[in-house]
Amino acid sequence: MIYKTRYSMISKLPDVKTTIFTVMGKLAKEYDAINLSQGFPDFDSDPKLIDLVTKAMKNGYNQYAPMQGIMELREAIANKFDVLYNVKYNPETEITITAGATQAIFTIISTFIHQDDEVIIFKPAYDCYEPAIELNKGKSILIQLEAPNYSVDWNMVKQLINSKTKMIIINTPHNPSGSVWSQQDMIQLEALVKDTNSIILSDEVYEHIIFDKEPHQSVCLFPYLKERSFVVASFGKTFHTTGWKMGYCAAPSKLMHEFRKVHQFNVFCANHPMQIAFAEYLKNPNNYLNINSLYLEKRNFLLNLIKDSRFKFIPSRGTYFQLLNYSAITNESDIKFAQRMVKDYRLAAIPISVFNSNQIDNNMLRFCFAKKKETLERAAEILCEI
Ligand SMILES: Cc1ncc(COP(=O)(O)O)c(C=O)c1O
Repeated sequence: MIYKTRYSMISKLPDVKTTIFTVMGKLAKEYDAINLSQGFPDFDSDPKLIDLVTKAMKNGYNQYAPMQGIMELREAIANKFDVLYNVKYNPETEITITAGATQAIFTIISTFIHQDDEVIIFKPAYDCYEPAIELNKGKSILIQLEAPNYSVDWNMVKQLINSKTKMIIINTPHNPSGSVWSQQDMIQLEALVKDTNSIILSDEVYEHIIFDKEPHQSVCLFPYLKERSFVVASFGKTFHTTGWKMGYCAAPSKLMHEFRKVHQFNVFCANHPMQIAFAEYLKNPNNYLNINSLYLEKRNFLLNLIKDSRFKFIPSRGTYFQLLNYSAITNESDIKFAQRMVKDYRLAAIPISVFNSNQIDNNMLRFCFAKKKETLERAAEILCEI
């Protein structure tokens, strides 16, 4: 008992509990449910990519990589920025390979956030931002986006930006809502931060999963944003290899110089054989350009199967997540309904209130459609039955 009290007193994250992904994943396992809760594919990555990793391991790339990542991979990423966005990043000083996007995000926040610095976050938000801010004694300033469109009220943002705003975290395409920021959104953001010292952390892990011909609005396309921004990317999300925990970030050299001071002591370097493999794999742009059509087909497949169900939806515009509104079915809280869906129907999803400010509940559940057709078919059958 004494130990329990002491540990709770020394906790740096007293309010953080087990994440909803772990809770729902465990429940799904217990009830042998179809798991559309956590954001990972249930199909394998390209065998060519797996062969490249195997080859790299057999060729002896099994020791530490350089701290900033191997040059060939950083060059391939710089080339990708150039080809896709006509934007230059210097691979020597402006790109670093990380252990997934999560490590990049944690390191960026730890590098720049001091006590009482304010960080603007748009809610619902991916769950790794706020704990990292809290650990660094910063203050999260939450802006709630309104369901069902989750568009930004730029007047509200304007009112909240002040001399303490050290960072603004943005995420487009957006997890969990599947919304996408327009060029106009980026222009508004640019105008608001232009004469400030705020850094932008732009979480672009779903850059290659965006539908209906909408162009991805990377911060790097906007000069006043690029000069103060980190672009964060994830090879796990793009190439169905979430278990490898590989990603990268890009930023102007002054910012990246500071980032690397922290990066070298919290991870030093990311997996070496995977870096060799991705450097080769990125040489063929089709390997990332075809991802859109793969997921568009899956989104349409699922939505077509459930169009006559009692769930309401606006088709996801990006990411591999689809929100479904269940208010025509029950007035239970989203957490209760999500739990009952696992127990009674054997289908797992994520309740959105856990990502919202003050746990606002709009009767929305998030479903991951990065799944095989047969998994989506079985899930759709259940959704039509509920
Ligand atoms: C918005 C967002 N950012 C970052 C991540 C983490 O990416 P990684 O697995 O590369 O750490 C995720 C994973 O779900 C995500 O959805």
